[in-house]
Amino acid sequence: MLTEELSRTVAAPNNLEAFWMPFTANRHFKLEPRLIARAKDMHYTSIDGRQILDATAGLWCCNAGHGRPRIVEAVQQQVADLDFAPNFQFSHPKAFELASRLATLFPGDLDHAFFTNSGSEAVDTALKIALAYQRARGQGTRTRLIGRERGYHGVGFGGISVGGMVKNRMWFGSLLAGVDHLPHTLDLERNAFSRGQPAHGAELADELERLVALHDASTIAAVIVEPVAGSIGVYPPPVGYLERLRAITEKHGILLIFDEVITGYGRLGKGSAAEYFGVQPDLVTTAKGLTSGVIPMGAVMARKHIHDTIVGSSADERTIELFHGYTYSAHPVACAAGLATLETYREEGLFERAAELAPHWEAALHSLKGLPNVIDIRNIGLMGAVELSARPGKPGARAYDAMCKGFFDHDIMIRITGDTLAMSPPLIVTKDQIDEIVERVGKVIRAVA
Ligand SMILES: Cc1ncc(COP(=O)(O)O)c(C=O)c1O
Repeated sequence: MLTEELSRTVAAPNNLEAFWMPFTANRHFKLEPRLIARAKDMHYTSIDGRQILDATAGLWCCNAGHGRPRIVEAVQQQVADLDFAPNFQFSHPKAFELASRLATLFPGDLDHAFFTNSGSEAVDTALKIALAYQRARGQGTRTRLIGRERGYHGVGFGGISVGGMVKNRMWFGSLLAGVDHLPHTLDLERNAFSRGQPAHGAELADELERLVALHDASTIAAVIVEPVAGSIGVYPPPVGYLERLRAITEKHGILLIFDEVITGYGRLGKGSAAEYFGVQPDLVTTAKGLTSGVIPMGAVMARKHIHDTIVGSSADERTIELFHGYTYSAHPVACAAGLATLETYREEGLFERAAELAPHWEAALHSLKGLPNVIDIRNIGLMGAVELSARPGKPGARAYDAMCKGFFDHDIMIRITGDTLAMSPPLIVTKDQIDEIVERVGKVIRAVA
């Protein structure tokens, strides 16, 4: 059931060649392309007309589901009304409206939004804000940035420097200087098959004290972590870990940045992981769910003292305070999408819905324990992962096959990282659809045994 237009595109000779696909095994994809024609609510339609259950909210981003009318209409209207306005020295009302909405959504005095176009840009922006803040408050020796092993903070040079996924780093030279890493928190020996936050590992936050002893606090600007490590395969933080990290950073005047590109906007059943865990970071990076993936957009939320210190750093009001920004920061169409998305979340109570569904999600996912090669299952909010043992000498191959079989044989989109299957359905998912996801994932796991 190819549409005429799509069949023409796909049938043209070599027409899959020109698109150099991101984070994709290009050669294999082009032998067996997984192409999607449209999307509505919880489903994609493949180009051959199959209904594919979206167990990943696209790429952790379509939290409101697909083709939601309020968002579609807002974007259509905005393109017609104001397609672009610069935000360097000029602006437009929806940028301020969206920033104000975000200020109320994020906890404490995370009251100022700096807009970007992606999570990667949000991360690099937050790192730069951290450095600028330390300098503006007279602590310019604080230039060191600390990330965490196995962390994912996008693909900019800042993000891969503080990130900790080896393949994202090893090809790209020496990266930023003056970066160090905390240890990751995965501990299968002590924590396998934990439900929600694992019991063991809070002491891993104390490694920050070791880095302070090594470098001295006066050289450290900020620590950045994902409150729940997402892309590596869903590592919820050990009980007490984030609280400890907050206490140590605060004690030493080090900023704490939560990278909430995945956890923001309802994934854990709250507006943010900061709110969910009750831990107040200094900066929060967001993207994805901000517009439910409809238009690219990211935002860094900054606490009042950070904003005020930088913005108040010059006596002259005509001076630009922060030499940073993107042509498309606060793009009007992205702002319209963001406002309509937040309204959809509010109107439909989607964050609360995610919180209500989380226990069902947890129970359903853990029912996969005991299937062949399943060595761990992790969950929190509406995110989850099933870790499979690797085929001897072929790391990643089993999960890769699972993804392909899921798409072609079981009509489900799942995400993989290494040998882990990761899932994060749109927050509109029903209990029946959760059961369907888990049933299909079970079939896929058996198929790759
Ligand atoms: C925690 C985190 N930070 C940053 C990013 C990068 O976002 P983007 O792909 O929009 O640049 C991602 C993307 O998955 C992410 O999960």
